[in-house]
Amino acid sequence: MKSVTVAAETPYPVLIGNGSLDSLEKVLADGGGAPKKILLITDDTVHRLYGEFVKERLETISPVEVFVVQSGEAAKSFEQYYAILTYALEKGLDRKSMVAALGGGVVGDLAGFAAATFMRGIPFVQIPTTLLAHDSAVGGKTAINHPKGKNMIGAFYQPKAVFFEPQFLASLPAAEMRSGMAEVIKHAMIADASFLSWLKKDLSAVMNPNEDQLVRMITEGIKIKADIVSQDEKETGVRAYLNFGHTLGHAIEAALGYGRITHGDAVAAGMLFAVWLSEKELGADLSFTKLKTWFEEIGFPAAVPEELTSEILMNFMLADKKTASGKVNMVLLKEIGTPVIHSYLPERLQALLEEFRKEEIV
Ligand SMILES: NC(=O)c1ccc[n+]([C@@H]2O[C@H](COP(=O)([O-])OP(=O)(O)OC[C@H]3O[C@@H](n4cnc5c(N)ncnc54)[C@H](O)[C@@H]3O)[C@@H](O)[C@H]2O)c1
Repeated sequence: MKSVTVAAETPYPVLIGNGSLDSLEKVLADGGGAPKKILLITDDTVHRLYGEFVKERLETISPVEVFVVQSGEAAKSFEQYYAILTYALEKGLDRKSMVAALGGGVVGDLAGFAAATFMRGIPFVQIPTTLLAHDSAVGGKTAINHPKGKNMIGAFYQPKAVFFEPQFLASLPAAEMRSGMAEVIKHAMIADASFLSWLKKDLSAVMNPNEDQLVRMITEGIKIKADIVSQDEKETGVRAYLNFGHTLGHAIEAALGYGRITHGDAVAAGMLFAVWLSEKELGADLSFTKLKTWFEEIGFPAAVPEELTSEILMNFMLADKKTASGKVNMVLLKEIGTPVIHSYLPERLQALLEEFRKEEIV
């Protein structure tokens, strides 16, 4: 069993390994004892696969109520959030109760926000079931979407603990695995050149990792995220480095319409643009061409979707909540492991994006 501590204001453990859930009772005892009731929130796909397994484990601690949302990004809605609160009230949950989020980033974000606001906040634990959730389950960003923007309503609210059972990833579709791999690669690129070299060494490990390889990827990724979150829990500084690849990535996701492209595929395109910019603007030597070939081998889309104009993408980048006073912040790399933030005027960034896309086509 691997264990990483997130040194947030109230530190918490992330346990990685099959059987991690067996430590739940001890972890809760260390944190003040068993809750009066547990509300298990999951989606229908994950519920079918692992709902009973997890419920049985939770029931050894406290009575469990289950709320199931439909799988997919649409569940991060005000309606689902409200329905969860209503259900929690009807089932008699109180301030001594706890929420358990079982699923990918969608369930984690939604359940976390419900926990953050129910009766001014009750404890919650994360039980991630996607590779991407090695990222989303750690760090305490919880949110739902508003029709006017993704993650527009939310809270910084840390879980009491995270239990990562790699066995749950066995059923994850290949496209979702690749989506999570983009975040693993992101963590390596912003913080750890030797981890990136290890990932690059064996294509089959990235395409189809065995359990040891998975545990290493999840653990290294979580260590990097935990380290950054520990320094800057509320994103006033270095936490912004985690947005590497996300400025353009989020714009691609939003412009295409959510669900049309996975988060990781969009972020992969964003990382390539950021690497290209880093070489052009900072003179960094990041072997852009080799990196692009590696991304293509993994199966990431080779280019920014053609149907989106650079102007449309620019407008979405400007609408992002991380935009500051009309400028767009881009995370670039001086070298692998050394991120920096560059602010761009929209016209300049749009021209650079246009140039990047022209070069991509040649
Ligand atoms: N809070 C954060 O810091 C943070 C960071 C990154 C992303 N996010 C959020 O995470 C969300 C994306 O998360 P995601 O990619 O995990 O998506 P997701 O939760 O929608 O899961 C992807 C799909 O895989 C299915 N699934 C989940 N686990 C499975 C399993 N073990 N076997 C088979 N199918 C399974 C789900 O039902 C869903 O259809 C986005 O809403 C994004 O905003 C949050």
